[in-house]
Amino acid sequence: LFELDEDSQSMCVLNGSVDLDHDGYTGSGFINVDNELGASVVWHINVTQAGVYELDTRFANGGTVARSGLLSVNEKGEQLVTLEPTSSWSVWSNEGIKVALEAGENIITFKSNSAEGLANIDKLIIKGDGITDALCP
Ligand code: GCU
Ligand code: CA
Repeated sequence: LFELDEDSQSMCVLNGSVDLDHDGYTGSGFINVDNELGASVVWHINVTQAGVYELDTRFANGGTVARSGLLSVNEKGEQLVTLEPTSSWSVWSNEGIKVALEAGENIITFKSNSAEGLANIDKLIIKGDGITDALCP
């Protein structure tokens, strides 16, 4: 497992804040992107072996409608990740997708697809070995 969150030195962009005001997060807080279209969080990672990896988003959505996000790797293959309401900002859930990662550096971009912003994001979990934080440009 490799986790990407607010503590990662590889988090190179955050259009938003790291917040602490809802329970149940792991690490030192959770990511709250600005409530606007296109607000994003970006990590840079190094991958030993190219392939398709499972990626889970751990999120909380205390609103009443889904907050969808768009996840891309190296600005390609944008996938819709639907983050359904979880009933409260302190109830967390996982949503899984599969992503193709290249050998070498990969830029993981998760951005809001609506004016509501993303759900609150605790972390992304990539299932696999040989993944490490890359330096920010
Ligand atoms: C509330 C909540 C935030 C959340 C925000 C939102 O303000 O406290 O954690 O990010 O709603 O609607 O996005
Ligand atoms: Ca928010």
